[in-house]
Amino acid sequence: MSVNINRRTFLTGTAAAAASFALAACGGSNTSSSAAGSSAGSASEAGSSAQASYKLVTPGKLTIAAELGFAPFEYIDEGSTDPVGFDVDLIKAVAQKMGLEAEYLPNQAFDTLVPLIKQGGKADVAIAGITITDDRKEEVDFTDPYLDSNQGLIVKADSAETQESLNDASKKVACQAGTTGEEWIKENIPDCTVVPLADVTASLEGVTTGLYDAFVIDLPVASNMISQSFKDLKVALEIPTGEQYGIIVSKDNPELTKALNEALAAVKEDGTQDEIETKWFGSVISQ
Ligand code: ARG
Repeated sequence: MSVNINRRTFLTGTAAAAASFALAACGGSNTSSSAAGSSAGSASEAGSSAQASYKLVTPGKLTIAAELGFAPFEYIDEGSTDPVGFDVDLIKAVAQKMGLEAEYLPNQAFDTLVPLIKQGGKADVAIAGITITDDRKEEVDFTDPYLDSNQGLIVKADSAETQESLNDASKKVACQAGTTGEEWIKENIPDCTVVPLADVTASLEGVTTGLYDAFVIDLPVASNMISQSFKDLKVALEIPTGEQYGIIVSKDNPELTKALNEALAAVKEDGTQDEIETKWFGSVISQ
């Protein structure tokens, strides 16, 4: 249905492009989740009819959880503490439509995001290139999709490994723990030794040094990391999984999901999302 982001012209976010916003990296706000959301949303901007029947961890703020090692979607530039990336700009624009301040929690491991949102009390949403899946939908709610994605199989640039050759217990195929990449490996390279890891950069370093034979991650991230820092690696296989990213919200907070969907539609409609896509990907890639 929509254009996928596995284009070879994929541009990476530069520090220069990312310098224009400052999100407070807050020290793990643990305020009660019972505080009612304020209705501060500038109605003129959002046209928001959903007058704050949703709950927020901290009134007036949209508290966001993410795994922040996933460039160009969310990452922290060296020497900085502020998250930057496509998702960061998008959620900031969405929060603004809702009249809320966007505030990031410190980095969370990817496989803790669904439990964290399900449990409640720490973050209102997680946005982290999170693929909408049926399994996750049993635990949390998703907003409408905001972007399409696929997977990529990464190996050393001079490697001849293929999906077939990796399908052997002697081959170590790494992934980020809890991701759809991990699922893909288990289903499609069933005989390999799967190695789930927390950190994408460390995983790629492991492929470089030969510790792992391959690594599977979302294709836009694979392309970005290779072109930026891992020139000795290549994408051996583009995997058209047809995934879609959504923002996750507790099932106890359906009004927040509704308000987020309205704000997402508004940032798409007024061209803000297109601008953010152009900034990070070089062109508009969603429909
Ligand atoms: N899209 C994949 C998934 O949902 C990977 C997301 C990883 N995101 C991150 N921020 N590390 O499983």
